[in-house]
Amino acid sequence: MSVPKVSKICCIGAGYVGGPTCAVIALKCPHIQVTIVDLNQARIDAWNSSDFNLPIYEPGLEDVVRATRGRNLFFSTDVDGAIRAADLIFVSVNTPTKKTGIGAGYAADLNYVEKATRRIAQIATSSKIVVEKSTVPCRTAESMRVILEANSKPDARFDILSNPEFLAEGTAISDLVSPDRVLIGSLQTHEGKEACKALSEIYANWVPQERILTVGLWSSELSKLAANAMLAQRISSINALSAICEATGANIDEVAHAIGKDTRIGPKFLKASVGFGGSCFQKDILNLVYLSESLHLPEVAAYWRQVVEMNEYQKRRFTRHVVDTLFKTITGKRIAVLGFAFKADTGDTRESAAITIIKHFMEEKALVTIYDPQVEHEQIWMDLQEVSPTFTLQQIKRQVQIAPCALDACAEAEAVVIATEWKEFITLDWEAIYEQMSKPAFIFDGRLLVDSAKLAKIGFKVSSIGRGAEVTA
Ligand SMILES: NC(=O)c1ccc[n+]([C@@H]2O[C@H](COP(=O)([O-])OP(=O)(O)OC[C@H]3O[C@@H](n4cnc5c(N)ncnc54)[C@H](O)[C@@H]3O)[C@@H](O)[C@H]2O)c1
Repeated sequence: MSVPKVSKICCIGAGYVGGPTCAVIALKCPHIQVTIVDLNQARIDAWNSSDFNLPIYEPGLEDVVRATRGRNLFFSTDVDGAIRAADLIFVSVNTPTKKTGIGAGYAADLNYVEKATRRIAQIATSSKIVVEKSTVPCRTAESMRVILEANSKPDARFDILSNPEFLAEGTAISDLVSPDRVLIGSLQTHEGKEACKALSEIYANWVPQERILTVGLWSSELSKLAANAMLAQRISSINALSAICEATGANIDEVAHAIGKDTRIGPKFLKASVGFGGSCFQKDILNLVYLSESLHLPEVAAYWRQVVEMNEYQKRRFTRHVVDTLFKTITGKRIAVLGFAFKADTGDTRESAAITIIKHFMEEKALVTIYDPQVEHEQIWMDLQEVSPTFTLQQIKRQVQIAPCALDACAEAEAVVIATEWKEFITLDWEAIYEQMSKPAFIFDGRLLVDSAKLAKIGFKVSSIGRGAEVTA
């Protein structure tokens, strides 16, 4: 068998990964027709919207979609048609943490991956390369292979590859255009290696060959979980140190700078914060914990579980600090929360630290006003309802408001909490904000974003994560 020729790609799942990833493939490979499909009609309609009001916010994404949509990039709900036509299919569906049943709270819910796989098996009448793009537990490709082979038709063979996605939301387009590496895992059979070559050739249209790594299937699957676990572990490590800084008078930024100069450690991902969020870190670590436990490795499981526990501790510690500083009660007090997305440059709120913090504030009966430049209001209400099931939406709306700008959010507030590191918060008119706030006016910088000395000069009482001198007057 020779290297399969790929002229048509289908991507199942038009989300944060499927959308940007396959849009960039379409941009870089004008000779390949790329169709991104989803069951969610509203999402597909947004991808196809005439004013390019795309379903996800990602810097640079609109330009890519404008350049390719209708040329060799298509969005559709015709999942079957796209499967039938494709030579290569990316499975890029969601794999959330299971909420009920065996492994609830830890294991990945593979229901969506299985459904998509079964659909491919049912519909395909010619050979396909099926690429696992979703983040999945080690050896999921084996289950996919069994399902596909048990249902394959004569003349239709399936080769399975693992090609985990390492993009980070907020920088997805630059990550995809210039990736640190592309990882492709395949069975080490002749056919597996040929399929791997076919996918490598697609990436080789713009990614230097030395950055395309080819490995075994299981290593590829595990590498994705491992990468996210290591990244999250760095954040929890620096956050654990931030607690020591606050108690001792050390400054976490100075500590991070000092240790990051060691080339063995490196400077990236050493920013202390109110905690990590996003759809992946927590989910993937819990997945690793579950995998370790299933493999009877309880010490390994406990080690990784602690990374998530430290993250929860950091959020609790931050809220407690706000309450303590505001004279041990925030009942009836106005608190402005700047930022609701889990990080800057995205509208994604999944596992955002802001959600947990606001939940705690609501429990303390504070009055919260939220401002975020990108997150849809509906999303905020949905998230707050989900995290506080004992509150009705009406009750939530009695305590929480959403403001159209930062200045409005801060009006008459006793404290401002910076929950997301949006750049625009650095250059706000802090003097005007100060004028409008109740005094003393507090700022709690959960992202080490603003210039605390400058704000203290205006009159704010500033409190930053990991800074010893708790409140500067
Ligand atoms: N978001 C990230 O930053 C990121 C980064 C790397 C990897 N990942 C992984 O990529 C995968 C997808 O993540 P996401 O953030 O894009 O999720 P998402 O929820 O934004 O998108 C998944 C999409 O798949 C669709 N879908 C589910 N089942 C389907 C089916 N049978 N047929 C057609 N469409 C179907 C859903 O409707 C949804 O729109 C996950 O496994 C995630 O862990 C995510």
